Amino acid sequence: MTKRTNKLLFILLAVCGIGLWTISGSSCKKDKDPMPLATTPLYDTLGWFIQGATGPVAGNGTKMIDDPDNPGQKIQAGRLAIRTVVGKSLMVIAGDTALAEYFPVLLAEVGAGNTTGYNNLLQSFTDFVQQAVSTQTGVYKGKSMRDAHNNTTYNRFGSAAVQKSTAADFDQFVGDVASAATSLNVPNSVIGQLGTLLYSVKGDIVY
Ligand code: HEM
Repeated sequence: MTKRTNKLLFILLAVCGIGLWTISGSSCKKDKDPMPLATTPLYDTLGWFIQGATGPVAGNGTKMIDDPDNPGQKIQAGRLAIRTVVGKSLMVIAGDTALAEYFPVLLAEVGAGNTTGYNNLLQSFTDFVQQAVSTQTGVYKGKSMRDAHNNTTYNRFGSAAVQKSTAADFDQFVGDVASAATSLNVPNSVIGQLGTLLYSVKGDIVY
């Protein structure tokens, strides 16, 4: 081989080597585990309860388990616990005549057998609580609490005559969530923490 061929061969090998290294480097990156989902002791506790409260608590908020409502799909255990409480709460709230004036659109839809709005609210409310409890980001994509709870910015809330929630009805709403959680055997200490979370947005709903 001439010196020139040798040099060419060397360059070729060097380039191929770098190429292979880059490919294997990037495939290694792809194999890496994604960032673990954020969790908190409360989210883990909720995920632990929904699975029957056995074994260790840590890590059970983000644990992927079978979604009982969607066969073949998985759901974070913490989210399932929250969705279960939210679903039950919406049932209690829907039957609470004191709060009916705030939900005319939803109640009319459900009365007519249309559950689309109900399912949207169930998901959105669950997203909101999941994000707040777990500290995971980008879960809730709905309106700000202020916009969602004023008839002038959200026509599904109340009516022209009932534009905002009173403080008494806010308490009534939180009381309904608490009794829904109690009926699901959620311990008082956990209900207390959920209550604190709900009261943290009171200033955006009652003003
Ligand atoms: C206690 C804290 C509360 C939280 C965290 C909360 C959360 C939410 C969320 C996440 C939505 C959906 C917004 C969207 O998808 O853009 C929503 C909608 C709504 N909320 Fe609240 N809410 C609270 C209190 C209340 C109270 C006190 C009332 C009434 C007295 C109320 C009545 C409504 C109504 C009427 C809607 C629209 C329902 C529909 O989709 O038809 N909420 N809320």
